[in-house]
Parts: sequence; structure tokens; C-alpha cells
Amino acid sequence: MTVLRPHAEDQYAEELALLAKDDDRPRPPGWRLSPWAVTRYVLGDGDAISPKYIGPRRVVEVAVATLATDRALLLLGVPGTAKTWLSEHLAAAVSGDSTLLVQGTAGTAEEAVRYGWNYARLLAEGPSVDALTPSPVMRAMAEGRVARVEELTRMPSDVQDALITVLSEKTLPIPELNREVQAERGFNLIATANDRDRGVNELSSALRRRFNTVVLPVPATAEEEVEIVARRVAQLGRALELPETVTGMDEIRRVVTVFRELRAGVTEDGRTTVKSPSGTLSTAEAISVLTNGIALAAHFGDGVLRPSDVAAGIVGAVVQEPVSDRVVWREYLETVVRERGDWRDFYRACREVS
Ligand SMILES: Nc1ncnc2c1ncn2[C@@H]1O[C@H](COP(=O)(O)OP(=O)(O)OP(=O)(O)O)[C@@H](O)[C@H]1O
Ligand SMILES: [Mg+2]
Repeated sequence: MTVLRPHAEDQYAEELALLAKDDDRPRPPGWRLSPWAVTRYVLGDGDAISPKYIGPRRVVEVAVATLATDRALLLLGVPGTAKTWLSEHLAAAVSGDSTLLVQGTAGTAEEAVRYGWNYARLLAEGPSVDALTPSPVMRAMAEGRVARVEELTRMPSDVQDALITVLSEKTLPIPELNREVQAERGFNLIATANDRDRGVNELSSALRRRFNTVVLPVPATAEEEVEIVARRVAQLGRALELPETVTGMDEIRRVVTVFRELRAGVTEDGRTTVKSPSGTLSTAEAISVLTNGIALAAHFGDGVLRPSDVAAGIVGAVVQEPVSDRVVWREYLETVVRERGDWRDFYRACREVS
């Protein structure tokens, strides 16, 4: 049996081992690698170490340096800017374990960040260490590893506040047992939060002060975004074992261009303003449009990614709100796409599915 999606530390075990072998720089207590090597793991070295996150080096350096201090790391950004992705790879490189994860939702209970009880044992034996079920955060503290909290601002505020003691005192009291779990060195926490959720459950200022915030930017240039998308699409195709498909850079560039123009509200040449649809049209969505297109081309086409393989995916991503987004899309199609001489096939494919 093979798992559908291996954890980063398993998938990139060789790269991590390679980095650890040659790493003679100082490692913070409890770390598997030096901050320098962690950064190299994340950004790649143009050789044996593949780039995972593509973006400004400084952003990654600040994030890694933060983890070596007593402050926790908050990755903030619009949807699809690789917050989750980066957090997984940082945890994998720093502690060799990216699985100590709490998923923040409106229904996340305090047990998810503190501890719960195995009620059968609790009733049979009374409160004891054995009856306690530690949360991922508690395990990270006890083992000196990095814990991850996804979508921090979606959790109810009282659950968020349970993290304050953990982050400021580095301890988790267990009043029922009259004891505590103190964090081992190497413990820290990476949280992610979505810009768009701002105001859902605003971070309390007490908690905010325990974090260093790093904002993950949207790709600065079209070229950068094309590179991210091309790289991830190739990786995903391999991981899903999709049949070999000819994926021209032209098709990738076109999807990225459409997304960027609609997002920015203006064409790349700056000449035509267009309306923006309600959806986010993130890099992540461009990746999934292309991956779906490749599956179509591989299984139902001739093995070459064609405009008709991505058209439906693009329309689906753009038209989230059936009435107003459709108007936006129509207008873009007729005023921008139609006018581009080398986009004829693409225009026709879009007309067919619109
Ligand atoms: N700069 C980037 N470098 C590498 N991969 C990227 C980049 N931006 C986006 N991706 C890819 O986009 C996909 C989605 O990223 P991820 O889920 O981490 O986004 P997110 O910021 O957590 O979004 P959300 O706010 O919706 O949770 C991942 O597969 C990731 O590889
Ligand atoms: Mg995420």
C-alpha cells in the first residue's frame, strides 16, 4: 500500500538526511538542522535540494529565525499563498515531524490545544496520566517539537486564549492531576491565518503579542507565478501518477495570465481595465485547473494539454457567483481574450463551455 500524500518529512527524507550530514552550522537546541540548512531545504539549492516554497528569501529567513526565538510564528496571507505548505515544510525540517497539527474551525474545542480524557479509563481509574489524551500541542511541548495550528482565527476566542499560557509560560498546567507539562527545548508553534477571515475571530492582542507575523506575498511577477505553477503541476502529476502528458508552457502561461488579469482588474499591458470576479483566483487554484486539465488530456484527449482541457476549469474558478461573475467573465472573454490573435483556440474553447 502507498499513501496518497506522504508527509513532507517522509517524502523528502533523502534531502533532509543529505542536509543534516553536511550541516556544521550551529543548531538551536532541539533542532534537526541549523536555521541555514532549514532555509536551504525550503528554498532549494539549485542542485540536489528541490525548492518547495518559491518566494522572497528574506521571508523564509525571518520565519526560520523566529522559530529559533521564544516567539511563535504566524503566517498570514490571502488564500493560496502557501501558508499551509510552508508551515508543513518548516515543521518537517526543524523537528522532522509535521504531523503535530491542530485544524482550527469554529467547532475546535479547548481539548484540541490542551488535553482531553479517555473517559472509559477516567471512570475506571480516576484522573491519571494514563487517562489523559494529550493534544498535538501538548505532545509538541513534551517532545520539543514544532506544533502547527491551521486557521488560527477561525477558532473561538476562548480556545485561542488557551494558547496564551502555552506561548508565554511554555507550560501547560493540568490542574486535575496537580501537575504540568513543561515545554522541552525545540518546542515552538507555527500558526496560519487567512487575510480574508480577518474579523471572523480577531486575534486578541494578548495572543498577537506572542507571535511574529510573516506575511506571505502573492507572486510578484507573472514569470514567478508561472514557475510556481509549472513546478507544482509537474510534482502533482508525478505524485498522482497521471499518464505522461505534453504540457506546454504556453498553456500554463495563459492560465496564469487570465488569473492575474482578473485578479488585478487590468490586463498585463496595462491598457484595458477589466472587472474582478468574487473568487480569489489564487495560485493554488491555477495549479488545480492545470492538474485537472492534464488528467483530461491524459485520459480523454491525445496526451497533449489543449485549451479545451483547461477552459471548463477556468470558467469554474472564475464563475463562483452565478450571476455577477458570469457577467464579469463574458466581458473579459469578449473584450480581452477575443482580441488576442494567438488565443483563438482558447477563445473558442471558452465560448463552448461558457
Ligand atoms: N510561492 C509558492 N511556492 C510554492 N508553492 C506555492 C506557492 N504559492 C502557492 N503554492 C502552492 O499552492 C498550493 C496551495 O497552498 P496552501 O494550501 O499552502 O495555501 P494557503 O495559503 O494555506 O491557502 P488557504 O488560505 O486557502 O489555506 C500548494 O500546493 C503550494 O505548493
Ligand atoms: Mg491553508
